[in-house]
Amino acid sequence: MSQTILRTERAQLVPLSDEHLEYQVELDADPEVMRYVGGARTREQVEKKHRETLAEADRVPGLGYWAGFVAGDFAGYWILRAPDPDGEESVEGQAELGFRLLRRYWRKGLASEGSRELMRHGLEDLGLRRIFARASAANTASRATMAALGLQCVREFQADPSYFPPGTDLRAVEYAITREQWGARR
Ligand SMILES: CC(C)(COP(=O)(O)OP(=O)(O)OC[C@H]1O[C@@H](n2cnc3c(N)ncnc32)[C@H](O)[C@@H]1OP(=O)(O)O)[C@@H](O)C(=O)NCCC(=O)NCCS
Repeated sequence: MSQTILRTERAQLVPLSDEHLEYQVELDADPEVMRYVGGARTREQVEKKHRETLAEADRVPGLGYWAGFVAGDFAGYWILRAPDPDGEESVEGQAELGFRLLRRYWRKGLASEGSRELMRHGLEDLGLRRIFARASAANTASRATMAALGLQCVREFQADPSYFPPGTDLRAVEYAITREQWGARR
């Protein structure tokens, strides 16, 4: 099953494609947006990431990145991706949730609104058994969003330093929700 277009009350989530590259360049150029995720990116860095992201979506049916639009305007992107096959997570039945919005769309309930639909899609349509999300321990907005979605903090760990500029605070947290917990909340 390839990625599906998803809709919420305010947003349309469209599987990420080449036509969204310029939006990603704008989003990832903002140092405030990228504060806890490795810092602002140049166009070249975003182009490389974009190609990797699309290749990953081809590899794992149904999962990937979604560009989110509100009244036709790009607001950011939402992620429900397969875990890194080289990571310690068992890949089977799990996916990693993420979100990154343009600053003008923060604090309007949009990250959680889009994420709820992605979680429903993942756990109910795709049959996932667990969704997890990771963030810098200092990323208050991300932690508050994960908690608002019903994910629980399951561990603290040190992030891989190779993904971050020298001097980055590497303390990180993982939140998660199982299909059973999701069902109980519904
Ligand atoms: C994290 C991010 C996506 C949140 O987006 P958002 O649309 O503002 O989040 P929402 O409005 O859906 O808020 C969800 C919950 O988090 C809370 N929250 C959001 N930002 C917050 C902040 N800066 N401080 C405290 N709480 C915050 C909201 O009050 C809400 O809680 P509630 O439902 O209990 O009222 C946004 O801040 C962002 O794009 N940050 C930069 C990228 C990033 O760090 N992504 C996460 C990487 S792990």
